Amino acid sequence: METYLITGGAGFIGGNFLKYMMQRYPDARFVVLDALTYAGNLGTIAEETASPRCTFVKGDIGDRDICRQIFERHDIRYVVNFAAESHVDRSIENPQLFLQTNVLGTQTLLDTARQFWTVGKGADGYPEWKQGVRFHQISTDEVYGTLGSEGYFTEDTPLCPHSPYSASKAAADMLVKAYADTYRMPVSITRCSNNYGPYHFPEKLIPLLINNILEGRPLPVYGDGQHVRDWLYVEDHCKAIDMVLHHGRPGEVYNVGGHNEKKNIEIVRLTIAGIRQMVDANPAYRQVLRKKELAADGSIRTDWIDEGLITYVKDRLGHDRRYAIDPSKITAELGWVPDTPFEEGIRKTIVWYLEHQDWVESVISGSYRQYYEHMYGA
Ligand code: NAD
Ligand code: TYD
Repeated sequence: METYLITGGAGFIGGNFLKYMMQRYPDARFVVLDALTYAGNLGTIAEETASPRCTFVKGDIGDRDICRQIFERHDIRYVVNFAAESHVDRSIENPQLFLQTNVLGTQTLLDTARQFWTVGKGADGYPEWKQGVRFHQISTDEVYGTLGSEGYFTEDTPLCPHSPYSASKAAADMLVKAYADTYRMPVSITRCSNNYGPYHFPEKLIPLLINNILEGRPLPVYGDGQHVRDWLYVEDHCKAIDMVLHHGRPGEVYNVGGHNEKKNIEIVRLTIAGIRQMVDANPAYRQVLRKKELAADGSIRTDWIDEGLITYVKDRLGHDRRYAIDPSKITAELGWVPDTPFEEGIRKTIVWYLEHQDWVESVISGSYRQYYEHMYGA
């Protein structure tokens, strides 16, 4: 029975990955290590952690003792490192925390795995490694910096991060590569574009838009709204990670993205239209609106859900203009292609939020309100 250590498994992508893997590998065991920061939520993975196949450990990837104890108690074969501070806007406010978690935390995890996975030393001085182990680092396309209106990020694009977040992720990638080169550690890295889907914390664009629309709040669009992101449904990312973990060549980087570039303003318009269409079609969804204005006939009004909610606000500092992934390496080597077209993914995402307001309520606690007011005003 193989055991996976999934760090950051109570967050958005890590939580979706845990669900995906527990279904796909019914004999495997899983240890989730998560510090449960504002972005981590045990409710996301309640069903999974109730299973005897899954052990949850609350702790910091930068805590050597906790990492050591996990490796002592469990025969870890795969480490998949999702744990990170992940929001660019927060990194602009507090860069140091990003270096602490994303760089030093990753290094602590690498060191612990190295300690438990090396079984001797070869005649050439390099460590010998336990069979079949793999350290997989979840990185991001943001490490490549920004593109003009043409071209794509390939795995050979030089790293050129601009935000404290992307700089910390690039530094972590460099460390992972350094462990591969220096110790011949079996590692791999995936660099994925922007994800969206269920359990996404409503500080990121798409869930923030959905949440604001349901509350009848303005939709803040940074700068001119012409910035481009390449959106991928989270399950397609999970599938890619699984493929790279088991079939990707050790020491390699794989870009992950589905050629789904959209300007931010398009995302805003599509989200408004999607919600309007769903609440108009289904009276039960209309009940979910937190702004409840009644029409003369007593029905809940929806005519205010339109582009009048769009509000252009001050641009993000150092805002990258365009991200776009060339995924041809992972497609050619591993046969990965995304399964979920954007129209289907955004519909599923909106439906999920309409049907899981209890989850939203549980994550937008007092600290989220404070964050929101600090960033966008009352
Ligand atoms: P998230 O913020 O939703 O989740 C991060 C999780 O890590 C949370 O559960 C949090 O509690 C946990 N965590 C934070 N600090 C920790 C620490 N010191 N020790 C242990 N756990 C800690 O982030 P996400 O969007 O799920 O992103 C996961 C990973 O994927 C990150 O490494 C991110 O850089 C990368 N990534 C994200 C996207 C995206 O669009 N969201 C795209 C590409 C790559
Ligand atoms: P975000 O979801 O924070 O992801 P990232 O910065 O990692 O790409 O933002 C996606 C895009 O949306 C980015 O160009 C910034 C923009 N944005 C807004 O216009 N308004 C907002 O309130 C937020 C959170 C993001």
